[in-house]
Amino acid sequence: MSYRLDFTVLHQTETETRLSLTLHNLSDQSLEAWSLAFILSRWIEPATVSHGHLKQNGSYCTLAAHPQSALQANGHFYTEFTIKTPPLTLHSDGITEACLYTATSDQPLPVVVTPLNLRQPAQERIHLDLPPAKAINLIPAPAALQELQGEFRWSRYTALAPVPDAATGCVRWLQQTLASWLDTPLTVEPQGQIHYQLKPELAEGAYHLLIEAEAIWLEASSSAGFSHATASLLQLLPAQPVHQVEHQITLPMVDIQDQPQYVHRGMMLDCARHFHPVTRIKRLLDQLARLKFNTFHWHLTDDEGWRIEIDAYPALTQIGAWRGPEEALIPQFSTIDRRHGGFYSKQDIRDIVAYAADRGIQVIPEIDIPGHCRAAIKSLPALLVDPEDHSSYRSIQNYSDNVLSPALEGTYTFLTTVLDEVCDLFPAPFLHVGADEVPHGVWTDSPACRKMMEEHGYTDPMELQGHLLRFVENYLSQKGKRMLGWQEVVKGDKVSKNTIVLPWMNEQAGLDCAGNGYEVIMQPAQYTYLDLAQSACAEEPGANWAGFLPLETVYSYRPLAALEPSDPKLKQVLGIQCGLWCEHVFSQSRFEYLLFPRLLAISEVCWCPPEQRHWDDFLARLHGQLAYLDRMGINYRPY
Ligand code: ACM
Repeated sequence: MSYRLDFTVLHQTETETRLSLTLHNLSDQSLEAWSLAFILSRWIEPATVSHGHLKQNGSYCTLAAHPQSALQANGHFYTEFTIKTPPLTLHSDGITEACLYTATSDQPLPVVVTPLNLRQPAQERIHLDLPPAKAINLIPAPAALQELQGEFRWSRYTALAPVPDAATGCVRWLQQTLASWLDTPLTVEPQGQIHYQLKPELAEGAYHLLIEAEAIWLEASSSAGFSHATASLLQLLPAQPVHQVEHQITLPMVDIQDQPQYVHRGMMLDCARHFHPVTRIKRLLDQLARLKFNTFHWHLTDDEGWRIEIDAYPALTQIGAWRGPEEALIPQFSTIDRRHGGFYSKQDIRDIVAYAADRGIQVIPEIDIPGHCRAAIKSLPALLVDPEDHSSYRSIQNYSDNVLSPALEGTYTFLTTVLDEVCDLFPAPFLHVGADEVPHGVWTDSPACRKMMEEHGYTDPMELQGHLLRFVENYLSQKGKRMLGWQEVVKGDKVSKNTIVLPWMNEQAGLDCAGNGYEVIMQPAQYTYLDLAQSACAEEPGANWAGFLPLETVYSYRPLAALEPSDPKLKQVLGIQCGLWCEHVFSQSRFEYLLFPRLLAISEVCWCPPEQRHWDDFLARLHGQLAYLDRMGINYRPY
């Protein structure tokens, strides 16, 4: 170890933290003209830095001695500074990576970062005593389950009876899944024992699954119901690989009548902060389908990466999909000393959309505008930068150049071109436009924006955002698409009540949106943001800006619980989504650790009405599901 960085909380209050940073040169060489690069997601108040010259752009910070001086062998550099954000409680609140640049090396030098010294007593990790597993452990719990005496023996001669059109997708899913369990493929035969049958009298999404000694019946009125029946069938398979049960699988005989509480049961995945390969997304879709989610909300663009191929603008993925020391986008969040990125080709996207469709999942793309657009702006400056705009602002993630201008013609050219291509790729009749976190101060020092406000009689710059979003709403509507947005999509009061709003800051936001007549999909961070850490223990990975989020809190969620059960506004709740923001998610194991087992809890919250949910019963079934997660090699958080 030649260079080490120590980062310590000196003192903190609810609103302010003073920190010390010490860089140790443990090598036997003096460091000449050095500059330290490090990752810290909190904003450092520039005027509070005691020593050195500090620059911050997003989470990427650089620090150099000022005036420049060498750091002697065995010497150290010390500085202090203040941040004015809520207290630091987790190691991931601190510096996560660092490297050194010097005059004498053309490569960044690695720096060992010691875990943030919080100077607090260690917090216990949450421990749960799981009750014994049940014989049948379906998650989400079905509305009605009758256990019958006996079992269905699945042999190499088991086959599907002829399949109705509405079930062909989920039959492909069943066949693909069973291919890793059975030594013979599952085929369709006239005398097959597994019967998918259309029952028009069943409600949309509802299903009936009957497993008898000699036959299995899956009944539904649509492909959604067949997907749900298939998910239950797959969960009833034993968790062991088939070769351990002598080429024979047995299924318990059951009679299940079931239907979902909400029409929309989703998960949002942020693929911008860190790029997730197609295989990771498919593995996730397998799990989402098994848990009866029906929507994959794909966050494809953000400040730190543009991930969708657009034929008209190759620069979006040639430039905007990559971060690194030599790239137009500097490193953020991880991989401080090397290139990170990637994007989905149109073929990747068609492949994922079809894979999801077979599993009963619609894919809703999100193109986040007008904020969170730094990657697009850096890729297409000639189109998207207004050189006359001298407004000064800083976004929540510490950028001062990440917002599209509603007064620039290029913005509309860009949006219509991108939306044309995105709408062609995704069959779902919905498109999410983000609209979150446009920073205060934007557009205020732009002659073009001022002129536009005067022309339209706008008094608040947020009306410019509303203007832009109404344009997009109308454009999408001509293409048969309904617009979705985060709660800020209603800011500036211009979009119509046809827009579906996703309140995320808290429950009150949901109450406000429903009270204003919007349909909502509830995604309050305090219950559904699975990137939040699962306990207050300092080593727990994740974020904590909305508190920490243990399994039981996820399971306790009830949308708009403050309303009387008879309140008509409850009918405006179309469903629930969870989400994984990925600032902290840079590996498959971290991805799984944050998702599991909380994804199982939220699936039950989405599917089952509150009176059908019982925590102890859920824990027993969860226990029964752990063998499956183990079999799949999923790195769930142990309890
Ligand atoms: C959000 O968390 N910015 C929607």
